[in-house]
Amino acid sequence: MPTNSSQRLAQQVAIVTGGASGFGEEICRAFAAEGAQIVVADINTVLGEKLAAALTAAGHPALFHRTDVTRTADMGQLVATTLARFGRLDIMVNNAGISHANQPMLNVGEAEFDRIFQVNVKSLYLSAVHCVPVFRAQKRGCFINIGSTAAVRPRPGLTWYNGSKGAVVLITKSMAVELAPEGIRANAINPAIADTPLLTTFMGTADTPANRARFTASIPLGRLGRATDVANAAVFLADPASEFITGVCLEVDGGRCI
Ligand SMILES: NC(=O)c1ccc[n+]([C@@H]2O[C@H](COP(=O)([O-])OP(=O)(O)OC[C@H]3O[C@@H](n4cnc5c(N)ncnc54)[C@H](O)[C@@H]3O)[C@@H](O)[C@H]2O)c1
Repeated sequence: MPTNSSQRLAQQVAIVTGGASGFGEEICRAFAAEGAQIVVADINTVLGEKLAAALTAAGHPALFHRTDVTRTADMGQLVATTLARFGRLDIMVNNAGISHANQPMLNVGEAEFDRIFQVNVKSLYLSAVHCVPVFRAQKRGCFINIGSTAAVRPRPGLTWYNGSKGAVVLITKSMAVELAPEGIRANAINPAIADTPLLTTFMGTADTPANRARFTASIPLGRLGRATDVANAAVFLADPASEFITGVCLEVDGGRCI
């Protein structure tokens, strides 16, 4: 597809972790529609390759890179492959995330706790290790970290997940203030509970209309989140027109955190 200068992310190269499903998939689609070149990074090879092929077939340059965000070798190869293919990296979306099922805090085992913090928090460290040198050399770059309203207004039964997202919010602000002198921005998006494959994990109950209604009742705008809500916010934060916005943790939550 030819470059269209009215596209908000024309000429930009973006990596989206957890890009094969849910919010990540929609962020890939929205970024591509705005002219970005996309690297879908995920452990789900089947869905990731399918999305990259669909974007490419629609005329958007895209590739899939099998990446476990908890492994430094994978993250290093991800960034190296991106540079080799597209010659630059402008936007790093740290979206991959997992949760334990909604349950009493002491029912969550140590191994599951460790995995949640590796995927949701250590991934930000590895992302910084491999992306900051590239952003430094370019004197610009943009991190978008997917936090959660869980970091601001925690629900019971999700204690350890809530804590991991609290870390995402604070790390985002710390990165923003430390990297600002080098022209590198870091922002977060805090989505409310949304209709993605993670929904039943967060609800801790069957996905029935009655259970959905219970969660919807906690959201003033009266519906669950949608992946497009998050993708639209990500485009806004990635847009070079947002060059003066850093350290923001933007609730995309229908008013849940009021
Ligand atoms: N869905 C919600 O209600 C909700 C609300 C607030 C925040 N979030 C956050 O949004 C992000 C995306 O969640 P989603 O709802 O789209 O879930 P999802 O399960 O649809 O997508 C998550 C993706 O991350 C990938 N992934 C998991 N572990 C990985 C790893 N180690 N390395 C690479 N990829 C990995 C999965 O394969 C999947 O494709 C997560 O960080 C989640 O915590 C979700």
